Amino acid sequence: LLTGFSAGDIMSFNPVTPIPQVGGADLENNKLDSFRSFVASMIAEFSGKSAEDILALLEVPKNSDHGNIAIAIPKLRVQGNPSQIAKQWVEKFSPNEYITSCTASGHYLNFEINKLLLANILLDDIYKRKEKYGTNQSGAGKKALVEFSSPNIAKPFHAGHLRSTIIGNFVKNVHDANGWETIGLNYLGDWGKQYGLLAVGFEKYGTERELLNNPIKHLYDIYVKINKDVDEDETINDQARAYFKKMEEGTLTFSYIIYIKNLIISYSSGDETSLILWKKFRDLSIEKYKDTYARLNINFDVYSGESQVSNESNNRALDILKEKNILKESDGALIIDLKQYKLDIAVVQKNDGTTLYITRDIGAAMERYEKYKFDAMYYVVASQQDLHLKQLFKILALMGFEWVDRCKHINFGMVNGMSTRKGTAVFLDDILEQTKESMHEVMRQNEKKYSQVENPDQVADIIGISAVMIQDMSAKRIRNYTFKWDRMFSFEGDTGPYLQYAHARLCSIERNCGFEINPNIDISLLSEKSALDLIDMVAQYPDFVKGALNTLEPCTIVTYAMKLSHTVSVALETLWVLGQEHKIAEARLLMYWACRITLGNALKLLGLTPLERM
Ligand code: ARG
Repeated sequence: LLTGFSAGDIMSFNPVTPIPQVGGADLENNKLDSFRSFVASMIAEFSGKSAEDILALLEVPKNSDHGNIAIAIPKLRVQGNPSQIAKQWVEKFSPNEYITSCTASGHYLNFEINKLLLANILLDDIYKRKEKYGTNQSGAGKKALVEFSSPNIAKPFHAGHLRSTIIGNFVKNVHDANGWETIGLNYLGDWGKQYGLLAVGFEKYGTERELLNNPIKHLYDIYVKINKDVDEDETINDQARAYFKKMEEGTLTFSYIIYIKNLIISYSSGDETSLILWKKFRDLSIEKYKDTYARLNINFDVYSGESQVSNESNNRALDILKEKNILKESDGALIIDLKQYKLDIAVVQKNDGTTLYITRDIGAAMERYEKYKFDAMYYVVASQQDLHLKQLFKILALMGFEWVDRCKHINFGMVNGMSTRKGTAVFLDDILEQTKESMHEVMRQNEKKYSQVENPDQVADIIGISAVMIQDMSAKRIRNYTFKWDRMFSFEGDTGPYLQYAHARLCSIERNCGFEINPNIDISLLSEKSALDLIDMVAQYPDFVKGALNTLEPCTIVTYAMKLSHTVSVALETLWVLGQEHKIAEARLLMYWACRITLGNALKLLGLTPLERM
């Protein structure tokens, strides 16, 4: 099997050949890179190209029968016929402890590595690093600001916000895993004329008791009612506009103060009243959001929002725009004509002097750069806002901010059919509650198993959330998908429950084996094909973590976790731990344990809470 290499050398696992230094290889965090460094430096010698460039061209063959490392000769851009060259290089190849064989297959060169040596190095490494396995420090010293979720106060938390929450959390986690410093920011929709309308509505329908009791629901109810009223009485709209203008200016009259005085904890002058009321709406809503996000295991470092962008920043933005001659007046409003960039027109000030969504986004971006000096800023927002964000980035560029190149829109498609069975869910809480209920129903169908679950309610909550999240992250972000209530809860197929089940099953092996993990195993006992396939999968995890930083596509990690789980279940058909000779049981236990750590790390990267029992 191991052509050109004697069995004795391989069994030693103490390689004497030093690993060549190749730029770009991360020997500490990616054990496959040691093996790749040999291949890269070997091909560098044959081709005269730089080993660093070659390293970046190495691939993992789709089919593991083709070895572990491959390179497409044409990518090297060397003179001559690629398949001839491949054959010549095979002749020149000489094996060592790391790379055991080299074969030509058309334009490709395929390399077989010493898999047991890899297993030895890898299991050792995972044993030491545990939760850190897969991470790297490539982003050390860099800062990423990730803006995500960003729901609107008093309005439904719709599927777009749910996707932003799930994907945004992933974007943040991926940066963390690659060594970046990250800041998660929730930019609440809490400002604008609609909130003038809400304030008018609050005066008519609001009570402090209900506000304290369930702020999100109360404000939403008021919002629905006052919007109905507007249909019958247009003048309410004028009141809303006027109220919003006062909110922006910070000037409200005394009668308002009397009306809402129950809500005012302290105030010094009439000027601040609207803002105090506002602060209360915001604070109570944020309190509530925090609880719900906690259920999803999400924590924001900053709760910001449109209302938090200072007048000063908005004015400074307008001043720069004026200075640069970008603003035009149109019917008393200020606009930016972006037609030459095929980006339509952006209105940045209404004719009553108030700001708009995009104005506040300009001010917010400026404030964020000043405050955080980020190396990257992500806006995780539905693709319905593609034009808005393109306009924003274009305007920032026209204003002369070269850091606009660090801003990226992470967009995603729509979800169809998310209305729940009852058809009533408008808040994140309701969605999660109904998910939990449905999951609970599915679990009850297996009575025997169900009776063994200690805390079925919590387990149903976690699996249900995993179901929703995995469904969401299974395809490329930009694709629309249909919310399939029954399909996503299934324990079979590419679902969240399947992944949780795979993880829990690995945990049960550890629980039931009757002995402790021993890191000093006899590696040669892991030489079955399905064991080596597992080692192969586990070894690739650091590649996926690194790759996810470039694509920011959660589906790459979902696919990885699925494949790992499938490979585990294939291995479990034949490679048992229970009832085996002790040395064999120990070796397999360590291998499954490494799979459990890796799968758990992948699930956490996706934002899931890996379950130990279910
Ligand atoms: N609140 C907005 C909405 O629900 C999303 C905010 C997106 N972020 C931004 N910086 N504009 O549509």
